[in-house]
Amino acid sequence: MLKLFKHNIQPVSELSSAQTAVEVNALNLWFGDKHVLKDITMRIPKNKVTALIGQSGCGKSTLINCFNRLNDLYDGCQYKGEVIIDGKNINSKKTNVSRLRAKVGMVFQRPNPFPMSIYENVCYGLKLQGVRERRNLDDAVESALKQAALWDEVKDRLFEPAMTLSGGQQQRLVIARALSLKPEVLLLDEPTSALDPLTTLFIEELMESLKKQCTIVIVTHNMQQAARVSDYTAFFHQGKLVEYADSDTLFTMPEKKQTEDYITGRYG
Ligand SMILES: Nc1ncnc2c1ncn2[C@@H]1O[C@H](COP(=O)(O)OP(=O)(O)OP(=O)(O)O)[C@@H](O)[C@H]1O
Ligand SMILES: [Mg+2]
Repeated sequence: MLKLFKHNIQPVSELSSAQTAVEVNALNLWFGDKHVLKDITMRIPKNKVTALIGQSGCGKSTLINCFNRLNDLYDGCQYKGEVIIDGKNINSKKTNVSRLRAKVGMVFQRPNPFPMSIYENVCYGLKLQGVRERRNLDDAVESALKQAALWDEVKDRLFEPAMTLSGGQQQRLVIARALSLKPEVLLLDEPTSALDPLTTLFIEELMESLKKQCTIVIVTHNMQQAARVSDYTAFFHQGKLVEYADSDTLFTMPEKKQTEDYITGRYG
């Protein structure tokens, strides 16, 4: 079960560079002339779960898409400011974007398995990276499926189409696909909003175990979920970071009235 009390939680203001997985400095982003992210500065701590919360349209997805340069796919998107991962500003022209996307994995709201077998889904990225030896692929597939807590359910049907899995199994498959590349950061954009409560709990427990090996950033509209799974929570409003703190503090003693109104359901 999930831990009720979280340990080793430092105030965000005291996080050193060494404890930071993603450092965001004065990040601004525009879609056309619409200013969507406004001067965001924050440090996302390593090997912790950080939740991003805020009203629909406040920029949560856009922000995490900045962590693996997914916004580059949109014409008319412009950004300035820094996103530092492993000591390098990934917004630099020199960034190898496919290597970055292997390092910073992403899982979306709706499970999106590829139309191929369970096995092929999990080793897709490794094959793209040139891994060919069957034994290496077998080992990687088994290990990623075990980490995603799916192995026992699929080990006898690895070569069946991924589409034959249930929604919750598909979401764990997509998580396994991201984990096969051993990401440093895993971005989860409302990963459980299309799932039933039991599967949701299952994925929440998975996050708790995964943070030993990677940093997790989760976008969620579910306040209980944010309070349950995250070590830190950031609240955004209209493209601005309003408040960012360890989750116990943010949910029990928010500094700003706007945060309090949001987490208590007075708006949003
Ligand atoms: N590709 C795009 N082109 C133009 N505008 C966009 C694009 N993507 C997002 N936006 C706009 O940027 C703003 C922030 O959107 P974003 O998807 O980041 O919000 P969000 O906080 O994730 O919302 P939700 O909780 O509904 O998912 C919105 O006003 C949205 O309409
Ligand atoms: Mg979103």
